Amino acid sequence: MNTFETRYQAYRVLFEEKLRSFCDALRVKPDVLAESMRYSLLSGGKRLRPVLFFAALDLMGGVPEREGEFALALEMIHTYSLIHDDLPAMDNDDFRRGKPSCHRQFGEANAILAGDALLNTAFSLLFRAASRGEKQLLAARCLCDAAGAEGMIAGQSADLLMERKGDATAEDLDFIYEHKTAKLIAAPLVMAAILCGEPYLRWEEYGTLLGKLFQLTDDLLDVKATTKELGKTAGKDEREGKLTCVRLIGLSASEAQADLITKRCLSVLEGAKGDVSFFRDLTENVRRRER
Ligand code: IPE
Ligand code: IPE
Ligand code: MG
Ligand code: MG
Ligand code: MG
Repeated sequence: MNTFETRYQAYRVLFEEKLRSFCDALRVKPDVLAESMRYSLLSGGKRLRPVLFFAALDLMGGVPEREGEFALALEMIHTYSLIHDDLPAMDNDDFRRGKPSCHRQFGEANAILAGDALLNTAFSLLFRAASRGEKQLLAARCLCDAAGAEGMIAGQSADLLMERKGDATAEDLDFIYEHKTAKLIAAPLVMAAILCGEPYLRWEEYGTLLGKLFQLTDDLLDVKATTKELGKTAGKDEREGKLTCVRLIGLSASEAQADLITKRCLSVLEGAKGDVSFFRDLTENVRRRER
Protein backbone atom coordinates (compact mmCIF):
# COMPACT_ATOMS: atom_id res chain seq x y z
CA MET A 1 0.00 0.00 0.00
CA ASN A 2 1.24 3.50 -0.73
CA THR A 3 1.33 6.24 1.87
CA PHE A 4 -2.05 7.61 0.83
CA GLU A 5 -3.81 4.26 1.16
CA THR A 6 -2.11 3.52 4.48
CA ARG A 7 -3.25 6.84 5.89
CA TYR A 8 -6.78 6.46 4.52
CA GLN A 9 -7.02 3.02 6.12
CA ALA A 10 -5.66 4.31 9.43
CA TYR A 11 -8.29 7.07 9.61
CA ARG A 12 -10.93 4.59 8.56
CA VAL A 13 -9.94 2.12 11.27
CA LEU A 14 -9.95 4.88 13.90
CA PHE A 15 -13.44 5.80 12.78
CA GLU A 16 -14.72 2.20 12.71
CA GLU A 17 -13.47 1.68 16.28
CA LYS A 18 -15.25 4.79 17.50
CA LEU A 19 -18.41 3.86 15.63
CA ARG A 20 -18.48 0.33 16.94
CA SER A 21 -17.99 1.35 20.55
CA PHE A 22 -20.66 4.06 20.21
CA CYS A 23 -23.11 1.55 18.72
CA ASP A 24 -22.33 -1.05 21.40
CA ALA A 25 -23.12 1.46 24.12
CA LEU A 26 -26.47 2.50 22.59
CA ARG A 27 -29.47 1.22 24.52
CA VAL A 28 -32.14 1.51 21.86
CA LYS A 29 -35.48 -0.33 22.09
CA PRO A 30 -37.42 -1.86 20.37
CA ASP A 31 -34.85 -4.20 18.85
CA VAL A 32 -36.02 -3.52 15.30
CA LEU A 33 -35.04 0.15 15.66
CA ALA A 34 -31.60 -0.72 17.05
CA GLU A 35 -31.05 -3.36 14.37
CA SER A 36 -32.09 -1.16 11.46
CA MET A 37 -29.79 1.66 12.64
CA ARG A 38 -26.84 -0.71 13.06
CA TYR A 39 -27.60 -2.51 9.78
CA SER A 40 -27.12 0.63 7.73
CA LEU A 41 -24.39 2.25 9.81
CA LEU A 42 -22.11 -0.73 10.24
CA SER A 43 -22.42 -2.07 6.72
CA GLY A 44 -19.29 -0.48 5.36
CA GLY A 45 -19.21 2.45 3.02
CA LYS A 46 -16.07 4.35 2.16
CA ARG A 47 -16.27 6.59 5.25
CA LEU A 48 -15.03 9.46 3.10
CA ARG A 49 -16.48 12.22 5.28
CA PRO A 50 -14.96 11.10 8.61
CA VAL A 51 -11.65 10.44 6.83
CA LEU A 52 -11.67 13.99 5.42
CA PHE A 53 -12.37 15.30 8.91
CA PHE A 54 -9.57 13.36 10.61
CA ALA A 55 -7.06 14.16 7.85
CA ALA A 56 -7.89 17.88 8.00
CA LEU A 57 -7.53 17.89 11.80
CA ASP A 58 -4.14 16.21 11.49
CA LEU A 59 -3.02 18.79 8.95
CA MET A 60 -4.20 21.75 11.02
CA GLY A 61 -2.78 20.63 14.35
CA GLY A 62 -5.94 19.12 15.85
CA VAL A 63 -6.31 15.73 17.54
CA PRO A 64 -8.64 13.32 15.68
CA GLU A 65 -8.92 11.09 18.77
CA ARG A 66 -10.57 13.93 20.71
CA GLU A 67 -13.16 14.95 18.11
CA GLY A 68 -14.93 11.64 17.57
CA GLU A 69 -18.44 13.03 18.11
CA PHE A 70 -18.19 15.13 14.95
CA ALA A 71 -17.02 12.20 12.85
CA LEU A 72 -19.85 10.01 14.17
CA ALA A 73 -22.43 12.72 13.57
CA LEU A 74 -21.16 13.23 10.00
CA GLU A 75 -21.46 9.57 9.10
CA MET A 76 -24.83 9.21 10.83
CA ILE A 77 -26.26 12.12 8.87
CA HIS A 78 -24.77 10.75 5.65
CA THR A 79 -26.17 7.27 6.36
CA TYR A 80 -29.63 8.61 7.18
CA SER A 81 -29.58 10.54 3.90
CA LEU A 82 -28.81 7.30 2.04
CA ILE A 83 -31.59 5.35 3.80
CA HIS A 84 -34.13 8.00 2.88
CA ASP A 85 -32.63 8.46 -0.62
CA ASP A 86 -33.26 4.75 -1.32
CA LEU A 87 -36.93 4.80 -0.27
CA PRO A 88 -39.54 4.04 -2.94
CA ALA A 89 -40.81 7.62 -2.69
CA MET A 90 -37.34 8.93 -3.53
CA ASP A 91 -34.85 6.94 -5.69
CA ASN A 92 -36.45 3.54 -5.06
CA ASP A 93 -33.23 1.56 -4.82
CA ASP A 94 -33.13 -2.01 -3.54
CA PHE A 95 -29.39 -2.17 -2.80
CA ARG A 96 -27.01 -0.16 -0.71
CA ARG A 97 -23.48 -0.89 0.39
CA GLY A 98 -23.67 -4.36 -1.14
CA LYS A 99 -26.80 -5.42 0.73
CA PRO A 100 -30.57 -4.98 0.47
CA SER A 101 -31.35 -1.36 1.27
CA CYS A 102 -32.76 -0.59 4.72
CA HIS A 103 -36.41 -0.57 3.60
CA ARG A 104 -35.95 -3.87 1.72
CA GLN A 105 -34.64 -5.43 4.90
CA PHE A 106 -36.91 -3.87 7.52
CA GLY A 107 -39.84 -2.38 5.60
CA GLU A 108 -40.48 1.21 4.64
CA ALA A 109 -41.82 2.50 7.95
CA ASN A 110 -38.89 1.08 9.90
CA ALA A 111 -36.43 2.53 7.38
CA ILE A 112 -37.97 5.99 7.74
CA LEU A 113 -37.61 5.69 11.51
CA ALA A 114 -34.04 4.35 11.30
CA GLY A 115 -33.15 7.47 9.29
CA ASP A 116 -34.94 9.75 11.75
CA ALA A 117 -33.17 8.05 14.66
CA LEU A 118 -29.72 8.44 13.07
CA LEU A 119 -30.33 12.13 12.39
CA ASN A 120 -31.49 12.78 15.95
CA THR A 121 -28.64 10.78 17.43
CA ALA A 122 -26.25 12.90 15.35
CA PHE A 123 -27.77 16.09 16.75
CA SER A 124 -27.49 14.75 20.26
CA LEU A 125 -23.79 14.05 19.69
CA LEU A 126 -23.33 17.56 18.32
CA PHE A 127 -25.00 19.11 21.38
CA ARG A 128 -22.67 17.10 23.56
CA ALA A 129 -19.63 18.34 21.61
CA ALA A 130 -20.94 21.92 21.55
CA SER A 131 -21.03 22.03 25.33
CA ARG A 132 -17.22 21.71 25.35
CA GLY A 133 -16.58 25.20 24.01
CA GLU A 134 -17.16 28.00 21.52
CA LYS A 135 -15.24 26.37 18.64
CA GLN A 136 -17.13 23.13 19.09
CA LEU A 137 -20.41 25.07 19.09
CA LEU A 138 -19.50 26.75 15.78
CA ALA A 139 -18.38 23.46 14.24
CA ALA A 140 -21.64 21.77 15.30
CA ARG A 141 -23.62 24.61 13.76
CA CYS A 142 -21.67 24.23 10.53
CA LEU A 143 -22.72 20.59 10.24
CA CYS A 144 -26.37 21.34 11.09
CA ASP A 145 -26.45 23.98 8.35
CA ALA A 146 -24.75 21.72 5.80
CA ALA A 147 -27.29 18.96 6.47
CA GLY A 148 -30.39 21.12 6.63
CA ALA A 149 -32.91 23.07 4.58
CA GLU A 150 -30.25 25.26 2.96
CA GLY A 151 -27.88 22.33 2.59
CA MET A 152 -28.18 18.65 1.69
CA ILE A 153 -31.98 18.58 1.95
CA ALA A 154 -32.30 21.45 -0.54
CA GLY A 155 -30.21 19.40 -2.95
CA GLN A 156 -32.35 16.29 -2.46
CA SER A 157 -35.48 18.37 -3.03
CA ALA A 158 -34.08 19.86 -6.25
CA ASP A 159 -32.92 16.39 -7.36
CA LEU A 160 -36.51 15.14 -7.16
CA LEU A 161 -37.95 18.27 -8.74
CA MET A 162 -35.68 17.94 -11.78
CA GLU A 163 -36.51 14.28 -12.45
CA ARG A 164 -37.65 13.85 -16.06
CA LYS A 165 -37.67 17.62 -16.59
CA GLY A 166 -36.83 18.46 -20.18
CA ASP A 167 -35.61 22.03 -19.76
CA ALA A 168 -33.05 21.52 -16.98
CA THR A 169 -29.96 23.73 -17.15
CA ALA A 170 -26.32 23.53 -16.07
CA GLU A 171 -27.25 25.87 -13.19
CA ASP A 172 -29.90 23.40 -12.00
CA LEU A 173 -27.33 20.62 -12.05
CA ASP A 174 -24.77 22.73 -10.21
CA PHE A 175 -27.35 23.53 -7.49
CA ILE A 176 -28.06 19.82 -7.04
CA TYR A 177 -24.38 18.83 -6.88
CA GLU A 178 -23.49 21.66 -4.53
CA HIS A 179 -26.30 20.97 -2.11
CA LYS A 180 -27.07 17.26 -2.09
CA THR A 181 -23.42 16.20 -2.01
CA ALA A 182 -20.84 18.99 -1.71
CA LYS A 183 -22.29 20.50 1.48
CA LEU A 184 -21.60 17.31 3.47
CA ILE A 185 -18.16 16.91 1.89
CA ALA A 186 -17.04 20.49 2.56
CA ALA A 187 -18.43 20.39 6.13
CA PRO A 188 -15.75 18.10 7.64
CA LEU A 189 -13.00 20.36 6.26
CA VAL A 190 -14.64 23.55 7.47
CA MET A 191 -15.36 21.98 10.87
CA ALA A 192 -11.73 20.94 11.24
CA ALA A 193 -10.56 24.47 10.40
CA ILE A 194 -13.00 25.98 12.91
CA LEU A 195 -11.89 23.57 15.64
CA CYS A 196 -8.23 24.36 14.96
CA GLY A 197 -8.77 28.12 14.75
CA GLU A 198 -7.59 28.19 11.12
CA PRO A 199 -9.09 30.18 8.22
CA TYR A 200 -11.68 28.02 6.51
CA LEU A 201 -12.57 29.77 3.22
CA ARG A 202 -10.00 27.91 1.10
CA TRP A 203 -11.08 24.61 2.64
CA GLU A 204 -14.70 25.42 1.94
CA GLU A 205 -13.81 26.16 -1.67
CA TYR A 206 -11.77 22.97 -2.03
CA GLY A 207 -14.42 20.86 -0.26
CA THR A 208 -17.19 22.22 -2.46
CA LEU A 209 -15.23 21.42 -5.62
CA LEU A 210 -14.29 17.99 -4.28
CA GLY A 211 -17.96 17.33 -3.45
CA LYS A 212 -19.02 18.30 -6.97
CA LEU A 213 -16.32 16.05 -8.38
CA PHE A 214 -17.53 13.25 -6.11
CA GLN A 215 -21.12 13.55 -7.35
CA LEU A 216 -19.98 13.84 -10.96
CA THR A 217 -17.98 10.61 -10.61
CA ASP A 218 -21.00 9.02 -8.87
CA ASP A 219 -23.06 9.89 -11.95
CA LEU A 220 -20.33 8.54 -14.27
CA LEU A 221 -20.10 5.30 -12.30
CA ASP A 222 -23.86 4.84 -12.53
CA VAL A 223 -23.29 4.53 -16.29
CA LYS A 224 -19.89 2.79 -16.35
CA ALA A 225 -19.81 0.37 -13.41
CA THR A 226 -21.80 -2.72 -12.47
CA THR A 227 -24.19 -3.18 -9.55
CA LYS A 228 -21.71 -5.62 -8.02
CA GLU A 229 -18.84 -3.14 -8.21
CA LEU A 230 -20.95 -0.30 -6.81
CA GLY A 231 -22.88 -2.20 -4.14
CA LYS A 232 -25.93 -0.23 -5.34
CA THR A 233 -28.02 -0.52 -8.49
CA ALA A 234 -26.14 0.63 -11.59
CA GLY A 235 -27.84 2.31 -14.55
CA LYS A 236 -30.61 3.74 -12.40
CA ASP A 237 -30.17 7.43 -13.12
CA GLU A 238 -31.23 7.12 -16.74
CA ARG A 239 -34.15 4.83 -15.89
CA GLU A 240 -35.40 7.27 -13.26
CA GLY A 241 -34.83 10.29 -15.51
CA LYS A 242 -32.38 11.85 -13.03
CA LEU A 243 -30.70 15.12 -13.88
CA THR A 244 -27.03 14.17 -14.14
CA CYS A 245 -24.05 15.60 -15.96
CA VAL A 246 -24.20 12.63 -18.34
CA ARG A 247 -27.81 13.42 -19.23
CA LEU A 248 -27.03 17.10 -19.72
CA ILE A 249 -23.81 16.99 -21.79
CA GLY A 250 -23.08 13.31 -22.54
CA LEU A 251 -20.45 10.88 -21.28
CA SER A 252 -17.26 12.16 -22.89
CA ALA A 253 -17.96 15.83 -22.09
CA SER A 254 -18.71 14.73 -18.50
CA GLU A 255 -15.33 12.97 -18.30
CA ALA A 256 -13.67 16.17 -19.51
CA GLN A 257 -15.64 18.17 -16.94
CA ALA A 258 -14.41 15.80 -14.20
CA ASP A 259 -10.81 16.37 -15.32
CA LEU A 260 -11.38 20.11 -15.22
CA ILE A 261 -12.84 20.07 -11.69
CA THR A 262 -9.93 17.85 -10.58
CA LYS A 263 -7.50 20.51 -11.82
CA ARG A 264 -9.43 23.23 -10.04
CA CYS A 265 -9.36 21.21 -6.78
CA LEU A 266 -5.60 20.81 -7.07
CA SER A 267 -5.03 24.48 -7.78
CA VAL A 268 -7.08 25.55 -4.73
CA LEU A 269 -5.06 23.11 -2.62
CA GLU A 270 -1.80 24.64 -3.79
CA GLY A 271 -2.46 27.77 -1.80
CA ALA A 272 -3.25 25.90 1.44
CA LYS A 273 -0.88 25.86 4.41
CA GLY A 274 1.09 22.72 5.29
CA ASP A 275 1.62 19.35 3.61
CA VAL A 276 -1.51 18.79 1.55
CA SER A 277 -0.23 15.69 -0.28
CA PHE A 278 -2.93 13.49 1.29
CA PHE A 279 -5.63 15.74 -0.14
CA ARG A 280 -3.91 15.87 -3.54
CA ASP A 281 -3.88 12.07 -3.68
CA LEU A 282 -7.44 11.88 -2.41
CA THR A 283 -8.64 14.25 -5.15
CA GLU A 284 -7.00 12.11 -7.81
CA ASN A 285 -8.47 8.99 -6.23
CA VAL A 286 -11.96 10.47 -6.31
CA ARG A 287 -11.46 11.23 -10.02
CA ARG A 288 -10.32 7.66 -10.75
CA ARG A 289 -12.52 5.80 -8.31
CA GLU A 290 -14.31 2.64 -9.34
CA ARG A 291 -16.83 2.48 -6.49
C1 IPE B 1 -23.21 8.06 -1.87
O1 IPE B 1 -22.18 8.47 -1.04
C2 IPE B 1 -24.13 9.22 -2.10
C3 IPE B 1 -23.49 10.33 -2.79
C4 IPE B 1 -23.33 11.47 -2.25
C5 IPE B 1 -23.03 10.16 -4.16
P1 IPE B 1 -20.88 7.54 -0.85
O2 IPE B 1 -20.40 7.09 -2.21
O3 IPE B 1 -19.91 8.26 0.01
O4 IPE B 1 -21.50 6.28 -0.09
P2 IPE B 1 -20.81 5.27 0.93
O5 IPE B 1 -20.82 5.94 2.25
O6 IPE B 1 -19.43 4.96 0.43
O7 IPE B 1 -21.72 4.07 0.91
C1 IPE C 1 -27.55 11.03 -3.20
O1 IPE C 1 -27.27 11.15 -4.53
C2 IPE C 1 -27.08 12.14 -2.37
C3 IPE C 1 -27.60 11.98 -0.98
C4 IPE C 1 -27.98 10.86 -0.46
C5 IPE C 1 -27.69 13.15 -0.17
P1 IPE C 1 -27.57 9.83 -5.36
O2 IPE C 1 -29.02 9.50 -5.33
O3 IPE C 1 -26.92 9.95 -6.69
O4 IPE C 1 -26.77 8.76 -4.50
P2 IPE C 1 -26.76 7.20 -4.81
O5 IPE C 1 -26.28 7.06 -6.23
O6 IPE C 1 -28.15 6.71 -4.60
O7 IPE C 1 -25.76 6.68 -3.82
MG1 MG D 1 -30.81 10.54 -4.96
MG1 MG E 1 -29.92 7.54 -5.01
MG1 MG F 1 -26.01 8.30 -7.70
